[in-house]
Amino acid sequence: MRMVDIIANKRDNKELTKEEIEFFINGYTKGDIPDYQASALLMAIYFNDMTPEESANLTMAMVNSGDQIDLSAIDGIKVDKHSTGGVGDTTTLVLAPLVAALDVPVAKMSGRGLGHTGGTIDKLEALKGFHVELTQDDFANLVNKDKVAVIGQSGNLTPADKLIYALRDVTATVNSIPLIASSIMSKKIAAGADAIVLDVKVGDGAFMKTEEDAVALAEAMVQIGNNVGRRTMAIISSMEEPLGYAVGNANEVKEAIDTLKGEGPKDLTELSLALGAQMAVVGGKAKDLEEARTMLEAVIKDGSALEKFKVFVNNQGGDGSLVDNPENLPQAEYHYDVTSDEEGYVEVIDAENIGVAASILGAGRQTKEDEIDLAVGIVLEKKVGDYVNKGDVIAKIASNTEDVDSVVQKITDSYHLGKEQKKTELIKRIITA
Ligand code: URA
Ligand code: CA
Repeated sequence: MRMVDIIANKRDNKELTKEEIEFFINGYTKGDIPDYQASALLMAIYFNDMTPEESANLTMAMVNSGDQIDLSAIDGIKVDKHSTGGVGDTTTLVLAPLVAALDVPVAKMSGRGLGHTGGTIDKLEALKGFHVELTQDDFANLVNKDKVAVIGQSGNLTPADKLIYALRDVTATVNSIPLIASSIMSKKIAAGADAIVLDVKVGDGAFMKTEEDAVALAEAMVQIGNNVGRRTMAIISSMEEPLGYAVGNANEVKEAIDTLKGEGPKDLTELSLALGAQMAVVGGKAKDLEEARTMLEAVIKDGSALEKFKVFVNNQGGDGSLVDNPENLPQAEYHYDVTSDEEGYVEVIDAENIGVAASILGAGRQTKEDEIDLAVGIVLEKKVGDYVNKGDVIAKIASNTEDVDSVVQKITDSYHLGKEQKKTELIKRIITA
């Protein structure tokens, strides 16, 4: 087999065989195929797309390029959830105990935040003592015993994706649906999940700017997952504003606790129930989304979801008493109000810009080595559809420095006021197999 023929086939819009795709992935991972040939193939894929079968073969070739996490020591159907990236997105903290409270095993590998996006591990570390450095055995034992554990990213997972992602970044081939779908799905599959639920964000603050593109990506990923024997469903959700009110770490933990008590923000609650219902269905606990939702509402109401969160925190070295006393979470020294000098309805809140503002306060990191400040962050006081009068507080800042001028400016710039009372439609579509 020759790489030049594979490139020519894709250029001529022919369907690549499994063997051709494996030849490319194996050769490129080993360094036998040079970047210029890989680039040419990526560009041909960009223009000519891939069939569902090619996408599934590409995904599995990438999965097989490195280690795979073996979760077979954990009983039941292990369900994972993935979001394409949001701001103030606290859903994992809510979902892990919520779904585990239905006895669906949640064996989650999570990451840290970078740039303007937050990371689940950073948020959990606001619960003093919490750690994710578990051995594979401890991880499996915790999930078997209490149905939930979170571990840090480890191992040599999908090296082909790392190489291809870096090449796509510099060859204008990032924005290809089969390439994005295989990149995301290969990582989820290598991490060992039996079933996968995807939250595909759409809007100015997201990777996919239009609903049409988001639906196409979600459909491609759902098809890949189901084609390779992992039950997969997706939600298309809006990123026209940050999720919930809190953006930070300790403040998002507090928001997750409120949501598990049934007292959380409407949008975070809604998204958690929608994703949780899909997890319960693909995890085989409920026959349909409606039944799953009723079950989830019941474990919020009777307190067992909140109790599960406490058990989860204690199991991983954290201080579970913080769940009852969130006022003891890390607190910042200074507090400032951001007021509006305009009036009107909030039409859009630029989520990326709010994420950057929180990051400047120290809630996020610019490089992987940065230490983050768990206590600082932003709490929005006004959301899309709310009316703002001149002088109203639109957001509150928790900071450990008095120098917050640029943060105030960024928050003010993020709010777009107008005459129209818009309603964000949070969940735009549900994609099932
Ligand atoms: N996230 C990924 O992991 N891969 C992509 O290609 C795009 C977003
Ligand atoms: Ca939030």
